[in-house]
Amino acid sequence: MRMQLRKRGLVQALVLSTLLASTTLSATPLRELVKPQQQYFGAALETRHLQDKQFSETLAREFNQLTPENEMKWGYLQPERGKFTFDKADQLVEFAQKHNMTVRGHALVWHIQNPDWLANGNFSKQEMLDIMQQHISTVVGHYKGKVKYWDVVNEALDDNGGFRKTLWYKALGEDYIAKAFEFAHQADPDAKLVYNDYATEGKSPKANAAYRLVKKLKEQGVPIHAIGTQAHLVVGTSPRVADIATNIERIKELGLEFHFTEIDMRIKGEASERALQQQADMYQDLAQLSAYFDNANFFTTWGITDKYSWIPSWFNGYDHGLMFDKQYQAKPAYLAVNKVFADKAQGKFDWTPPAPMADSGRRFEAFISNQAEQHMTLDGDIAKWNKAVFYPFAYNQLSGQDLTLPAESNISGRFALLYKGNTLYGRVERRDDKTVIGNKEQVWENDSVEVFLGFGDEFAQIRALVGQPFADTPFQADIKNYWSEDGSVLEFAITPKQTTELAGATLGFNVALADNDEGPTSTRHAQLYPVPGTNNGWQGHDFGEVFFTAQNREISEKLTAQVVSFKAEPIEGFDPLAPFQASQWASAYHYPFAYNQLNPADQTPPSQNNLNGTWRVGYSGNTLYGVVHRHDDVTVTSGDDWQTDNVEIFIKIGEKFVQFRSIVGQDFQENDYPGKHLAKWSEDGSLLQFAIELPVDELKGKSIDWSIALADNDDGESRSAQLYPAPGNNTAYLGEQLTRLSFSK
Ligand code: XIL
Repeated sequence: MRMQLRKRGLVQALVLSTLLASTTLSATPLRELVKPQQQYFGAALETRHLQDKQFSETLAREFNQLTPENEMKWGYLQPERGKFTFDKADQLVEFAQKHNMTVRGHALVWHIQNPDWLANGNFSKQEMLDIMQQHISTVVGHYKGKVKYWDVVNEALDDNGGFRKTLWYKALGEDYIAKAFEFAHQADPDAKLVYNDYATEGKSPKANAAYRLVKKLKEQGVPIHAIGTQAHLVVGTSPRVADIATNIERIKELGLEFHFTEIDMRIKGEASERALQQQADMYQDLAQLSAYFDNANFFTTWGITDKYSWIPSWFNGYDHGLMFDKQYQAKPAYLAVNKVFADKAQGKFDWTPPAPMADSGRRFEAFISNQAEQHMTLDGDIAKWNKAVFYPFAYNQLSGQDLTLPAESNISGRFALLYKGNTLYGRVERRDDKTVIGNKEQVWENDSVEVFLGFGDEFAQIRALVGQPFADTPFQADIKNYWSEDGSVLEFAITPKQTTELAGATLGFNVALADNDEGPTSTRHAQLYPVPGTNNGWQGHDFGEVFFTAQNREISEKLTAQVVSFKAEPIEGFDPLAPFQASQWASAYHYPFAYNQLNPADQTPPSQNNLNGTWRVGYSGNTLYGVVHRHDDVTVTSGDDWQTDNVEIFIKIGEKFVQFRSIVGQDFQENDYPGKHLAKWSEDGSLLQFAIELPVDELKGKSIDWSIALADNDDGESRSAQLYPAPGNNTAYLGEQLTRLSFSK
């Protein structure tokens, strides 16, 4: 029970502190740290791997669960129609039985690794159903009592959270999922049945769709017991721990288990000490979640050793995803996981999940700055920004209560942030029909980009006119920039002296794009920011926040920016059923639908021709009134309700949360909200007017948690955009990532 460990230097010592006495480690094997049934450590493998003595020894020593990596897939089990070949899979089951391991069958229904006869069979609906039933009942029947868990349906969702148009979906519609579970249950009523998918760990739209899917199955009485999330992660870009924790919790509330089923964490290029340490931190995150939540009882890695991993052949340039290297040396990842469960076994595990943002008083999702792989050269090349999230310049703070944007050809843009060490990198893309930089007297009236940073009590304003370096500032920092020849791209690097490392930090932040179209003696007509406000960035007000994601575990408890909120003014005599009267709304704040939360990597909205919208709200007594203007090239109102063109309104008062949805042309859909509510669209779908009575005496002076979203489906299949007032993960429907709406006094 002894394994050799090569010394990997100082970083490792941090993880090991108590465990590592010398370069040789004797750690208690994982499986001995836990009780089976309560915690599984699993590995995927193929029969050929068992010939490798080091492999089978490591497997038997460390793991109490195995998953056939390929040999229970359809192509192996039923290569010809009606002819089943179980020999390889049987060998794995025998090995498991001999070593007292639980078997997880993988995977009954999937869209790839199917035999040709099935993939190209062009079967009728009834034939496909029969084929599926025969396969499932034969396979599950063959392993009845021997395979305790089954991945029944694998990867039924596409990356936006719609149904993947697989051979099964095309033949049977979404119903194939419930059917597969029913067939499996009939064949072995004691087997635990799982829906398995990837990129469903945290709170992405796809993770939310997976949640909705299993919730619906459960509510329909379909025999489902767990959701598996594959966790094929990339070092440096893991989902937030707080989000995974919330996901596990909501799955738990459904009475389901939550499994990590195919863990690996691939590294791009060399497995440097730093990369291995980052990887160990991510492994530690999942291990802690698994140790903390009793329903997160599977920690299964997709292989054991990097020697046989699927990664290099599937992800060009990536490797080193597992806990053991090619020589079966335990990597820092292994030690980190082992330490978590060793602590737990000794009653020393005192980790608790980080609070979700909602609990830290935030009402506006922060801007994310991910870590860059290396220090960057400022040269305008977009390739180096592939890990960054792009955000729009969303609000024009320069025209009083109208915060909507000018035409995009007049001035528009987006920005992204990354960091490395203590350097903040930024990229601003700017589209402008006329560039003016000749105003010498009032420099701020020129076309420029301004960056605002709040470090604790210190505040920095850093301005660069288009084509020029950042002007001198008292702020203690190294500042560099690059402009493209045509002024359309700015890249900058700001290295503040206050800190040596941005990882895990939260800073106050803002960035502004100023536009003067008249000339050197004139003034700006627009200054665009990512947040609403009153053009007070230069005073250190109206900030957003930026999170430096590190291992995504840190959300500062302390707000570094004011709570950004939207405003409602009183309105008199409004009737949602009467024609729109602009004069009634003259004193209302006018806001754009600003962020496309359906695209986590680029939250900028589509072009204004494709979709464009604005909203205004007002109040009288206890009734909230609103108007939405919508400009859309294609209107889709059929299909799943949430995939239609619609407006959704989210309101949370105290603990009570309610979601309203109005599909274009229709009143609000039924919900359990007792108060009066009404939505009315114009004939052509360009205008929505609504009224919602809220459960308070009067709204004056109060504020509520709220959001509003404009959804757009252009292809009849699924939405391409859902625009919100703020950035986020499209989780408003869960009562999260809402903004504040204040009713004036
Ligand atoms: C992979 C195997 O590891 C490869 O050997 C094979 O060539 C393709 O499939 N999600 C799943 C697994 O559910 O079945 C996949 O396994 C990896 C992604």
